[in-house]
Amino acid sequence: MTAGIDDIAIYIPRLYIDAEDFAKARGLDPVKLQKGLGVSQMAIVDSNQDPAILAANACLKIMQKNKLSPDDIGRLYVSTESAFDESKAMNSYVIGMLEQVYGQGTFEHCGGIETKFACVSGSYALYDNTNWIRAGEAEGKHALVVVSDIAKYDMGSSGEMTQGAGAVVMLLNDEPRLLQFDPKVTATSIKDEYDFYRPFGKETPIVHGQYSNMLYMIQVRKALESYKKKVVSSGLVKMEPGETILDHMDYINMHLPYSNMGKKALAYLVRHEWRQLPRWKRILTEIGIEEPIPKDPRGTIESVLGDEEFMTKDHEFTKLFTKTQEYQEVFESKLASSLIASTMIGNLYTASLYLGFRSSLEYEYQKGVDLEGKRVGFGSYGSGSSAMVFSGVIQPEYKEIVKNMNLVAELEDRRRLTLEEYELLHENRLTPDKSMLHSKKEFVLVDVKTDAESRGERRYSFNE
Ligand code: CAA
Repeated sequence: MTAGIDDIAIYIPRLYIDAEDFAKARGLDPVKLQKGLGVSQMAIVDSNQDPAILAANACLKIMQKNKLSPDDIGRLYVSTESAFDESKAMNSYVIGMLEQVYGQGTFEHCGGIETKFACVSGSYALYDNTNWIRAGEAEGKHALVVVSDIAKYDMGSSGEMTQGAGAVVMLLNDEPRLLQFDPKVTATSIKDEYDFYRPFGKETPIVHGQYSNMLYMIQVRKALESYKKKVVSSGLVKMEPGETILDHMDYINMHLPYSNMGKKALAYLVRHEWRQLPRWKRILTEIGIEEPIPKDPRGTIESVLGDEEFMTKDHEFTKLFTKTQEYQEVFESKLASSLIASTMIGNLYTASLYLGFRSSLEYEYQKGVDLEGKRVGFGSYGSGSSAMVFSGVIQPEYKEIVKNMNLVAELEDRRRLTLEEYELLHENRLTPDKSMLHSKKEFVLVDVKTDAESRGERRYSFNE
């Protein structure tokens, strides 16, 4: 049985901090954010918003757009790494909010859980729900998988320039209009690591930035190796001599903690794939310098990062590699469109990959490319750490959905925060009743109880 993504919707909070204002306040060169990281604006949540609200607002949007009733939904999964409860799953809060609109008990039949594995858990949730449909258990109902996060780092830390917030919801069924997942090729890698983690009770993560960048690339590459084997053994793709698996992906969407991480990761994957092929000789001639090798043959992340001479040379080599015409063609045709939304919104953790997918659909369609039958590869990464590589094919009905996508219009009603306002919000100094915006037709947080009996209980309302 077939299964995949029928429709996709996003909810992005309407406050943002501009890279220019942020850089000035932190004594940084704004070009480091804009060009070095690919961050122009970062979406910030108001004091009456939390990740459950972002998720519920996204779900309401997709249900209303598709005129779905709760009876049409068999499963609702929420994937997040911004959970605020150690036991109660975020999807129960989301269902509670949706029932304020659709009526008490209307989602009673609907199964689901909250999933956690840093930024990769949404991909596991998609995979599980796809298999629920493939197994014939859906009985004609759809699944909603919503990925929702607030990427928040300590003030003054190097992660602070890669924040953001928002939710992406995907409607899954057996006759998807957007993308059908390729069967039997989903591949994963996993390793116990401490590149980025958030111990109990801590609102912001502990991050080893450069270590996490490198681990991301290594783990995705491992998952890609396994994907390659599955693709060949399942007969999905026939690889000719001199080809790489990336030649068989028309589009590649990567996890985007910041927009330029997609560039970095693609360059890493392409370089490692091409190195084994006859074309590498030609590329090396165009680059004009030798490919550097780390001093320490163990090649651990620590030893590589500590090898300053290698890092400098490798940086130079990568820069030259990404300027070669052959690489530029791959970058422009397969990845570039997926990076646009991230520059305007920032990091969405679990949702970043799927915001990139949506961005790619919208901006490739605007270019006039016929997307029908194109294969999309996904490189998902979650710190801690696990990667997942999978793919799908764009369906003939995609235009029905993609023609109405307009990211700029969805973001037009945003308010640029001053640095003082941003810091008030960042330090949680505003209560929900002192929110910056008065939203209409949205769920908002009313209060969080503090008394001993009901500590942590959240009250939400739908603002008419
Ligand atoms: N003008 C132009 N470019 C500049 C510049 C300037 N003045 N100054 C620096 N740059 C460039 C650098 O050359 C670099 O480019 P390359 O990557 O091509 O080398 C880029 O800007 C970033 O500079 P640094 O590497 O020096 O930046 P940093 O070390 O200060 O911080 C970071 C970058 C490590 C990503 C940090 O923001 C961070 O810790 N972020 C959070 C962790 C993270 O996002 N990790 C990603 C992988 S883990 C993951 O994906 C899970 C998740 O969602 C968090």
